[in-house]
Amino acid sequence: MNKAIYSCCASLLSIYIFDDSEAMGGNESSKRGPNSQLRNWSGRGSPISLPSASSQLLVLIGGGLVRCKAVGLCLALVLCVPGFGAERIHLTVDASKPGPKIDRNIFGQFAENLGHGLYEGIWVGPDSSIPNTRGIRKDVVGALKDLKVPNVRWPGGCFADQYHWRKGIGQRDKRPATVNSAWGDVIDTNAFGTDEFMDFIEQIGSTPYVSVNVGSGTPQEAGEWLEYMTAAAPTALAKERAANGHPEAYKVGFLGIGNESWDCGGAMTPDYYVSLMKVYSRFVLNMNPAQRNKDQMLKIAVGPGTPDTEWTEDVMKAWKKHTWAWDINGVSLHWYTVPNGWPPSTKSEKFGLDDYAKSLKSTLFMDEFLRKQEAVMDRYDPEKKVTLSVDEWGAWHAPLPGSNPAFLVQQNSVRDAVLASLNLNIFARHADRVRMANIAQMINVLQAMILTDKEKLVLTPTYYVFKMYVPFQDATFVPVTFDAGVYTHGSVTLPRVDAIAAKSSDGKLLLEITNLDAENPAAIDADLTGITAKSAKGEVLTGAAVDSVNTFGSPDAVVPKPAAVKVENGKLSLTVEPRSVTVVSIEQ
Ligand code: AHR
Repeated sequence: MNKAIYSCCASLLSIYIFDDSEAMGGNESSKRGPNSQLRNWSGRGSPISLPSASSQLLVLIGGGLVRCKAVGLCLALVLCVPGFGAERIHLTVDASKPGPKIDRNIFGQFAENLGHGLYEGIWVGPDSSIPNTRGIRKDVVGALKDLKVPNVRWPGGCFADQYHWRKGIGQRDKRPATVNSAWGDVIDTNAFGTDEFMDFIEQIGSTPYVSVNVGSGTPQEAGEWLEYMTAAAPTALAKERAANGHPEAYKVGFLGIGNESWDCGGAMTPDYYVSLMKVYSRFVLNMNPAQRNKDQMLKIAVGPGTPDTEWTEDVMKAWKKHTWAWDINGVSLHWYTVPNGWPPSTKSEKFGLDDYAKSLKSTLFMDEFLRKQEAVMDRYDPEKKVTLSVDEWGAWHAPLPGSNPAFLVQQNSVRDAVLASLNLNIFARHADRVRMANIAQMINVLQAMILTDKEKLVLTPTYYVFKMYVPFQDATFVPVTFDAGVYTHGSVTLPRVDAIAAKSSDGKLLLEITNLDAENPAAIDADLTGITAKSAKGEVLTGAAVDSVNTFGSPDAVVPKPAAVKVENGKLSLTVEPRSVTVVSIEQ
């Protein structure tokens, strides 16, 4: 039973009925005394203000209690009532005012050649005892298919600006070994190269987002790579691809022109980068005839990784004056949740509420960051032709003790699930400009979907968030208004809840509610206008604590469960659990 409901009931009973604060045992709330609990309950340190439904409940229970001798029984009566003790949050969802499309590409992922992200995470080789299809793990492919991953960014990250694609094609046992100097100086066999990546993409049913080498490569090298991937026969490079097993031209959906060129990508000034960007845009061409008129490849320029706007200003100023010879379709932005600054120091397991609250606070900064960049983009591009592509985001914690620090290995907890949903909701609210995003990263690195250890695999809480959000892919944004309330922990103040809504392509109204409050549930009432709601069903993701994780031994500690949702007279009601992500699908 939830500790907060328990303690809240304990306090109420002690005030109204028993006047015995010891009755409930020594949990923290009862030690603070009933009044402080009630202040807490109202969420803002304000005087006691009981939600009306709960007041009625008290009267009801009070009547019954006269005859009730056993404290346990009385408590059971109280605790059986769903949502008792929860702060009430009222939402208004207006389906008659559809907004922009929530581009499915905001659910993109990032798979860098880093640590065990590709090697072991995806690639085990055809001779492995781990079940695979042409060297690619079957279990990983199966899990990712369920996420309908719209695009995968590869090969980096910082790695991209040192990657020379020719080393990763052809007969595998003849490929040269190289050093991955971006990530730990480990030997790279180059076994997972272009054709293996494309095979992986085909197996999971996604679209490639290829970042070309602007730092240590040349426009010629990048142009030839694109020709290798996308030219139809009979060019020499198309023939080489056919000889390597893939006669058909690949489709490349997105082209990244470098990565963090202000830092690991070459420590360039904005001016210098902009000159290179134009050249790459002009000469790195997609030659696939099937992408000439539709499904055209979108070119994404490097954008900022700090909130200042100089970089975006220079890229957009150049874009404004672009000619027939070159163009870009997007500017990237990188923002990680790193609450204590660099180097990342938050623990990814066995942490407490301080780390939880700070991490959520740091995550919410994404909104302000986007606004700043969008203000610049709007000046040059009020029609919002250029996408803001958040192609690296997620929680970056301290490396797990005992792991190679260059491999960026971390566990993934309820906290990460909550902050993933906060980010996705922010992107949805910016859907008119943010039409692409990539969580860092897909497997075994940073805020991963999947963790593997040899033949073992576990799906993380973040994986389940992405799964629950699948119906939001390409759905139409619908405005939700609400007073979020306040959740305070120590010096950190956060909104108590967050919510977004959308209309899915099959006509359902979708509602997501994140409860940031680590300890208290929230009772949600939603007015649904613009639709006639008939029924609803929901799923909730939470765990016993903010640091609950899934492990190989205990893979189901944090998995979605059905949520009790009620629809009556155009109103929806449900109680969202503490520290949870809930998605409701409403039929009309
Ligand atoms: O995702 C890890 C690294 O973070 C990427 O390689 C780089 O682009 C960023 O700094």
